[in-house]
Amino acid sequence: MQKKDIKWSELGFSYIKTDKRYISYWKDGKWDDGQLVEDNKISISEGSTCLHYGQECFEGLKAYSTKDGGIQLFRPDENAKRMQNSCEKVMMPKVPVEKFIDACMQVVKANEAWVPPYGSGATFYLRPYVIGIGDNIGVKPAPEYIFGVFGMPVGPYFKGGMNPVNFVTTDEDRAAPHGTGKNKVGGNYAASLHSHHDAVARGFADCIYLDPATHSKIDEVGAANFFGITKDNKFITPHSTSILPSITRISLMQVAKDYLGMEAIEADVFIDEIDQFAEAGACGTAAVITPIGGIEHKGKMHVFHSETEVGPVTKKLYNTLYGIQMGDVEAPEGWIYKVQ
Ligand code: PLP
Ligand code: COI
Repeated sequence: MQKKDIKWSELGFSYIKTDKRYISYWKDGKWDDGQLVEDNKISISEGSTCLHYGQECFEGLKAYSTKDGGIQLFRPDENAKRMQNSCEKVMMPKVPVEKFIDACMQVVKANEAWVPPYGSGATFYLRPYVIGIGDNIGVKPAPEYIFGVFGMPVGPYFKGGMNPVNFVTTDEDRAAPHGTGKNKVGGNYAASLHSHHDAVARGFADCIYLDPATHSKIDEVGAANFFGITKDNKFITPHSTSILPSITRISLMQVAKDYLGMEAIEADVFIDEIDQFAEAGACGTAAVITPIGGIEHKGKMHVFHSETEVGPVTKKLYNTLYGIQMGDVEAPEGWIYKVQ
């Protein structure tokens, strides 16, 4: 199979139309078998609940090429379960875990030529989603649904990649204390566009959200979770009801404990106490591990390890996690799904 003629190392995080995508319809109480299609346009009723009432959710996961020429997915079962939680929250039918994984596998196989080769620095990003469709006008769950998966090759989400970037706290909230913050639903992201735009316009990579109830603790970093490494080598990540439970973060906690022998805990991270951290980072599927150079809060810049150099613990965490994802480091049982 001939790979596409793409400068893999120059890819950013942008849409590319690949050859095939998966689509499945839910009607009369059940999902159909789903199929791969070429058309990247969807035709839906103007009354679709996803358009008016945000009845939708999505996921993000990646396929990685390995040294031996294979392709593998990283913890797709966790994405499937998280999507089920999102579906439950916004009253949509759940996609069975096996159907979710099978759809991802089909999309990767059908677009193998677009999957970046091992060592290229790029990966294949998969975007599963569920949307409420069908004729409707009142605020209620849709009569029909689509579950789709498409994918494309991507490079780093934040421009710096594995280089430190700076963030700024915002006074705006992306989610309510007991709202939809822990679900991957579109409304959270619509609510983040304005503060993201402001942060970028001021020269920052993105904004840091504080906990919506008290604005005293770090919640999330734009579209990624936050972690800090204390001066006595502990991995700390926020404990909050309004952040997305990041699969990268739970994986990193295990990597920190089992591979690097660190203590890894979820705890409140007070913005006024970030001096305790020797290093900090943003973690997520798209962000991978993005080192945080510094955070500006109330006009004052707080620099962690350095604004230009990656800290030693962040580097180790990155090398171990990315090594596992690419098949170079032995993974804990159940983390890797080979695309057959
Ligand atoms: N937080 C938000 C708001 C996100 O959109 C993402 C991306 O999925 C994450 C955190 C990181 O989650 P994960 O590591 O599962 O990709
Ligand atoms: C991801 O990391 O998969 C995300 O969903 C982040 C962003 C592109 C929304």
